Amino acid sequence: MTASNNASPVQTVQSSSADKWWKKSVVYQVYPQSFQDSNNDGIGDLQGLRSRLDYIQNLGADVIWLNPIYKSPLVDNGYDISDYKSINPIYGTLDDFKALLADAHARGIRIVMDLVVNHTSSQHEWFIESCKSKDNPYSDYYIWKDPKPDGSAPNDWGSTFGGPAWDYVPERGQYYLHCFAKEQPDLNWENEEVRQAVYDQMRFWLDMGVDGFRMDVISLISKRMEFPDNNGQYAYAKSYYAGCSNGPRLHEFLHEMNEQVLSHYDTITVGETPNTTSKQALLFTAPEREELDMIFQFEHMHLDYGKYGKFSTNRVALHDLKENLSKWQIDLKDGWNSLYWDNHDQPRAVSRFGNDGKYRKESAKMLGMLLHGMKGTPYVFQGEELGMKNVAFESLDDYQDIETKFVIEDMRSKGESEEEIEACIHAASRDNARTPMPWNGEGPYFGFSKAKPWINVNPDSTHINVEESLEDPDSVFYFYKKLIELRKTLPVLVDGNYELLDADNPDVFSYKRTNGNQELTVICSFADHEVPVPFQTDGKIILSNYQEHSDTLSPYEARMILSEK
Ligand code: GLC
Ligand code: CA
Repeated sequence: MTASNNASPVQTVQSSSADKWWKKSVVYQVYPQSFQDSNNDGIGDLQGLRSRLDYIQNLGADVIWLNPIYKSPLVDNGYDISDYKSINPIYGTLDDFKALLADAHARGIRIVMDLVVNHTSSQHEWFIESCKSKDNPYSDYYIWKDPKPDGSAPNDWGSTFGGPAWDYVPERGQYYLHCFAKEQPDLNWENEEVRQAVYDQMRFWLDMGVDGFRMDVISLISKRMEFPDNNGQYAYAKSYYAGCSNGPRLHEFLHEMNEQVLSHYDTITVGETPNTTSKQALLFTAPEREELDMIFQFEHMHLDYGKYGKFSTNRVALHDLKENLSKWQIDLKDGWNSLYWDNHDQPRAVSRFGNDGKYRKESAKMLGMLLHGMKGTPYVFQGEELGMKNVAFESLDDYQDIETKFVIEDMRSKGESEEEIEACIHAASRDNARTPMPWNGEGPYFGFSKAKPWINVNPDSTHINVEESLEDPDSVFYFYKKLIELRKTLPVLVDGNYELLDADNPDVFSYKRTNGNQELTVICSFADHEVPVPFQTDGKIILSNYQEHSDTLSPYEARMILSEK
């Protein structure tokens, strides 16, 4: 398919399916609202991002994933779309987007958009029409059910952002399903017209030159149409999983989407798939099934969960992390992994898995090496490459995120102390990831904007920022840059088999990648003190977060060792 003149596609030499370009790519995730404000209204925008493409190119990432920039009332920061074919004016215009795409392509950087099609905004015209009656052209676009005889909701599911997953509309005398906020009604994928409408908007962006999609909660699109009660399963928040995740027609729908749309373009696709196992992952990603290229799994994100799901202060046990990540490395066989620590829904990795005090830089680099040494496509979330840490906003009232607000209320209603609530929110709020990108150390807004940003800045930006990182040859940024460069030059990083080493070591996560005559060993210490080097390895240290190496590993030391036989 052709792209428009102002956004000619990135040229690639496409050979066998074993040589897909996205297997060598590193994706940089941009949260547009918080990346760079160009017109000083406190909100990041497309022209702002466009002016920062040099920075992303310098890092070496070759794909940008943009969180939703479509028209939206922003109840869930853009994951509630009211028009799939227009840009939210706070970010700019369609022409701004085309200019961004053209500039990115000219640098060999592809752009992936967020496809949010499990649900729309309640302000989408499809939903406004659908609410009006049981017999208009959009009546069947959403999931409507009659009340139970006593007038109550059709089943006992709760929504992610609080309250029941059903809302009553008097005009229809029926309830509609919303797995997320009530302003995010779920689309009815059983309806062929809905699927065609989704494919049509996908073609709209692909024809413009967009290079693929990150598909929001795509594992939820096929519902079990009997809508079973969940009877307390998945107690916290995600009670609809039993009826919505990995449903009966999911793979049929994705195959159809591939056949009718994706297979006609040269794309990268990644499905966000809550509640999906590594075995199920193969159904999405095995190439012969012609569905998606890779998925975002959640299991490693759940290892530190507590009573309130992710809102816990638990620390992950290294043993569990090794077991889980290794399982995904091995089980995916001819499928493909996406590799991530951070995104707009997660707290900052260095605070969560590393040490954001004395060893912030060391542990941020160690985490980078652990992930980028694995098999799959790595994703870097804006600021991760600076070793940005969590932020504790002064007051709970400063939090903006709908999920965070719900959890604060929920924990209060269950009688938790304010101290406990603060600890959980500080540790896990999505707003940790959403603070403005710090471009320099000058407050109050650190180069992001001249106006007060839509969300509070991270006060650590005085010393954790882009300018400082670019001036310091020893920064986390340059370490990430090196990791990305290695992926482009070392075939073993792309294709090598994975083997966990020294599984029982309580402090060190080590593994080996092997490909032909190349052997790459990665040794990562999670200890904040010295520990012995776990085993001897032939070869040369090609990357490390310390200059000097001995028989002991320094705190959070990481070594990547290459041997060619
Ligand atoms: C995904 C998004 C998240 C959003 C939710 C509902 O998990 O990443 O930000 O709130 O879906 O669309
Ligand atoms: Ca702006």
